[in-house]
Amino acid sequence: MLFQLSEEQLMIQQAARDFAQNELKPGVIERDEHQKFPAEQVKKLGELGFLGMMVSEKFGGSGLDAVSYVLVMEELSKIDASASVVVSVNNSLVCYGLEAYGSEFQKEKYLKPLASGQQIGAFCLSEPEAGSDATSQQTTAEDKGDYYLLNGTKNWITNGKNASTYLVIAQTHPDLKHKGINAFIVEKGMEGFTIGPKENKMGIRGSDTHSLMFNDVKVPKENRIGEDGFGFKFAMKTLEGGRIGIAAQALGIAAGAYELALAYAKQRKSFGKPIAEHQAIAFKLADMATQIEAARMLVYKAAWLKDQGLPYTLAGSMAKLYASKVAMDVTVEAVQVHGGYGFVKEYHVERLMRDAKITQIYEGTSEIQQMVISREILR
Ligand code: CAA
Ligand code: FAD
Repeated sequence: MLFQLSEEQLMIQQAARDFAQNELKPGVIERDEHQKFPAEQVKKLGELGFLGMMVSEKFGGSGLDAVSYVLVMEELSKIDASASVVVSVNNSLVCYGLEAYGSEFQKEKYLKPLASGQQIGAFCLSEPEAGSDATSQQTTAEDKGDYYLLNGTKNWITNGKNASTYLVIAQTHPDLKHKGINAFIVEKGMEGFTIGPKENKMGIRGSDTHSLMFNDVKVPKENRIGEDGFGFKFAMKTLEGGRIGIAAQALGIAAGAYELALAYAKQRKSFGKPIAEHQAIAFKLADMATQIEAARMLVYKAAWLKDQGLPYTLAGSMAKLYASKVAMDVTVEAVQVHGGYGFVKEYHVERLMRDAKITQIYEGTSEIQQMVISREILR
């Protein structure tokens, strides 16, 4: 068993670390405060090849492995989870979904600009009445011969405003329940497609989360992904990999907060010595480091399994469940280590604490991960 990254993986990790320090850190507090989407930074991430990391070069991607992808997610998330969620959705939901299950036509037309970072995409499963219970899709896609007529509302959609391409899940044959669901590629600007206002959120405030409304949108038949009725499986298979990306995001948030707490504890003095020399603080740091390392092992293993072509449903859900809990625990403690300074924005840890919470909610809540894990181990 080798616990060693390759030269190439180390180089990519360093590139992401540098990018986070040089491009994401300046302005991250202001973007959070003003809910500003990191548009310039996302453009540069595309130029670096970080938006289509695992897509083959034939379709404009970087042709890298999933381990490299989680390394990048971890480094970016140490600094700015609002930027890293763009990377996560574009790579592991949108690009993966299109490359794995799209037609040649769809890959040429839609995957290439997404994988090369010229455009970003969105993944639209959740609805006002269908979040965890994702089979209860109310959005309908009526078969009209050479097109589908799309009607309904999606909510909480990441990249909702800045995306150009939207993968939309909708019900075509309600009597068949989840077996009647389809997935479609919808373009921004299609007649009848409107974008709601931006959500005012607790965390990842730079990320553009919007509702989307579809009112008699005509979607060409060639934009359906896979066979008729494949849409729910498409969503589930795609989310399996997505959950590894969010687990890596949670890991990065935790690691970022820990690094700040460690540095602060060495230089802040109380009772005549650095606070790190008080056992209560030193033990907090020890627990944080141990939890982060355990989360890292789960995240890297899930990515490694994916790279080996081995099943990763269980590992991905375990990684997300655990890493997101570690992100919450560690960020709360990082604020505590900073004392009053941790409570103000310029020390970064309060933002990391707010950002951590979403990792227990999106791409399947912690309770849904427990459901997936228990079903896998009991089956
Ligand atoms: N791979 C393939 N098929 C799968 C699957 C998987 N991982 N998981 C389930 N399925 C299939 C089942 O086999 C079944 O099909 P068959 O009847 O043909 O066998 C079908 O899907 C329905 O499965 P269940 O009976 O298990 O359905 P359920 O309703 O009991 O549970 C669920 C399904 C796991 C809870 C699912 O609804 C789920 O994952 N919910 C969470 C939704 C979610 O993660 N949303 C994330 C939105 S994207 C997002 O959040 C992005 C972002 O923030 C950035
Ligand atoms: P509910 O499903 O109503 O759950 C409420 C609570 O009940 C949760 O604690 C849940 O775990 C629990 N619960 C529900 N059912 C069960 C059960 N059977 N057993 C035990 N507990 C249960 N969705 C997308 O499709 N695309 C996106 O890009 C996207 N981005 C998002 C970005 C943000 C910032 C947010 C907040 C959400 C985003 N989502 C996105 C939606 C997200 O995936 C859902 O919020 C999530 O799946 C939970 O659904 P819900 O909010 O409807 O909660």
